[in-house]
Amino acid sequence: MAEKKTFYITTPIYYPSASLHIGHAYSTVATDAIARYQRQRGVETFFLTGSDEHGQKIERKAKDAGVTPQAYVDKIVAGFKDLWKLLDISYDGFIRTTDEHHVKAVQKMFKKLYDQGDIYKSKYTGHYCTPCESFWLDRQIEEAGGACPDCGGKLELVEEESYFFRLSKYADRLIQYIKDNPTFIQPVSRTNEMLQNFLLPGLEDLCVSRTSFTWGIPVDFDEKHVVYVWLDALSNYITALGWGSDDDSLYRKFWPADVHIVGKEIVRFHTIIWPIMLMALGEPLPRQVFGHGWLVLDGGKMSKSKGNVVDPVQLCARYGVDAIRYFLLREVPFGSDGTFSNEALIARINTDLANDLGNLLSRTVAMIDKYFGGVLPAHGAVADEDTALIELASVLPAKVDAQMSELHIPDALAEIWKLVGACNKYIDVTAPWTLAKSEAGQERLKTVLYNLAESLRIVAILLIPYLTSTPAKMFAQLGVAKEQTAYESLAWGGSVPGSTVHKGEALFPRIDAEAELAFFAAEVEQTKAASAPAAETAPAADTTPAAPVAQAAPIAPAKHAHGEEETPAEIEYDDFAKIDLRLAKVIACEEIKKSKKLLKLTLEVGAETRTVVSGIKQWYTPDDLIGKTVVLVANLKPVTLCGVESHGMILCASDAEDTNLSALTTLAEMESGFKVR
Ligand code: ME8
Repeated sequence: MAEKKTFYITTPIYYPSASLHIGHAYSTVATDAIARYQRQRGVETFFLTGSDEHGQKIERKAKDAGVTPQAYVDKIVAGFKDLWKLLDISYDGFIRTTDEHHVKAVQKMFKKLYDQGDIYKSKYTGHYCTPCESFWLDRQIEEAGGACPDCGGKLELVEEESYFFRLSKYADRLIQYIKDNPTFIQPVSRTNEMLQNFLLPGLEDLCVSRTSFTWGIPVDFDEKHVVYVWLDALSNYITALGWGSDDDSLYRKFWPADVHIVGKEIVRFHTIIWPIMLMALGEPLPRQVFGHGWLVLDGGKMSKSKGNVVDPVQLCARYGVDAIRYFLLREVPFGSDGTFSNEALIARINTDLANDLGNLLSRTVAMIDKYFGGVLPAHGAVADEDTALIELASVLPAKVDAQMSELHIPDALAEIWKLVGACNKYIDVTAPWTLAKSEAGQERLKTVLYNLAESLRIVAILLIPYLTSTPAKMFAQLGVAKEQTAYESLAWGGSVPGSTVHKGEALFPRIDAEAELAFFAAEVEQTKAASAPAAETAPAADTTPAAPVAQAAPIAPAKHAHGEEETPAEIEYDDFAKIDLRLAKVIACEEIKKSKKLLKLTLEVGAETRTVVSGIKQWYTPDDLIGKTVVLVANLKPVTLCGVESHGMILCASDAEDTNLSALTTLAEMESGFKVR
């Protein structure tokens, strides 16, 4: 098979509506490992990432923050780049959809599609909420009882002039393409999903312009329209290479993409809209779209109050970049959903990295140091147990390649760890410390230590695409010369007898799991106390736990690199509707004596009377509250705080430090028990 000598790989371009979290790091680290893997094998690689900066959501966030959309995204995108630097992401291109060359190319594309009749002007009809400036789907409106799902206001049936893209015209061609190219959509299960759920039932034309907001690429021949997000976003993969510009040499060199790495929720856009855009433009289609699964937290969603740390900056500060990269690449089958938890992270670090790999290296180097004065001995005659080890090391590169050709990144790492495991067993079986005791054992000892050092050299070379500082540390400790660190020197026997080993620091210090998890648990309590003053647990809030890793940055509550508070992920109306919010009247209130923070409130909620314990003593005396109407989360599970059962939580607004805090009430006097929505 003729080897293709270029490789083009992309991540999604992320929305700069908030800072990135561990899920975005997951996609990007995986893409980075694949790009590094290709480069290591001599393939000229282009790795693209970037930011998807337009749209109403960003326009609104900027307005709320009192800055221009451009200033808003500039700051967040700078944070993206800082994160990728921290995680050693080796991207070759970073596209921003506000880049002038992208804007121009998208305008050109839009005009071309319009001129050839694939984009046409029509009317978009929908239910519109004027204060929220949003259209809503029938389903969303039904769930919200006929009102605006956002503000509860009245909706109007509005027609908006829009441009539409004729997806329907190309549907049959796309279905045929997908059938003819069974590896186009990966993992293969997602192919069926796309065909059955979207393509075979029939495609509707896609709305590709809006007039209700302005933060987008203007349609240059009809300036009250801006290009609607997906057409703008997807085209990044070719505009970044110069498509539609005076210099399209990168495009001619690298397109079509070898693989677009995306999360499973956007496979649909990449395997339906994107290929149809390319068909309409007369350009080749990407070779593959790989939809990986979601990294979820224990219990389902990413949330600090559950005790899971999701800020990659803080995780790297605590455990090191390679430990985080390893966890992301190793823990979850690529393509499936997986769980991120502190327990799983610590277990991976302690087992695979500290025990299996780190100890193997330090034992090997220590034995060469002790028995041969730090000089790598030459090996002698080969025994049976050596043959098995050498055989395993020799076939390993091909095994890794087999896994990587399917993008089974965790399995590629598992193959490498088979050799690590075999070396650890080899030490047990050969017992070098026993050989060292006798004169007769000396020759055998030389062979054993050579084989261990050589296996570790091979492991380090194969780890280069995945871990970015560990291989160099291993080479330094093993005393491997630069030429023997190259991929081409993988064949068994590359370690040069006579080289000097150097004892070094442990590659991955072992973590005291119990202390670490206790620390997280305490941090969670603190976070809860800080973020939900109305439902804190008093004893935890009054104690400050000590960090077991003294030099590490505290993990929670997390603020992002540039000082912003985390914005929770978007939720469906259904999620919001799970919360039963009610007006409640405070009919009695007293201090809980043994707590510095808690008040006990007796609330009238319609016909019902409730007791709620709230951590607002610092801001209110009982007299301030009696007779007031507050907003109650009525269906919160009861908890016992300082011996009092609290059933519900009252809502308060506060600044980040809780310097100013106010309980919520209504503008007009209203009866208790009324629903808040
Ligand atoms: O969708 N687990 O941007 P986005 C795994 N701008 N991956 C996750 C994840 C998680 N919990 N959370 C996010 C957009 N991701 C568009 C893309 S492309 C032309 C336009 C990753 O900021 C995953 O790759 O919402 C997902 O597809 C992407 O971030 C979504 O990023």
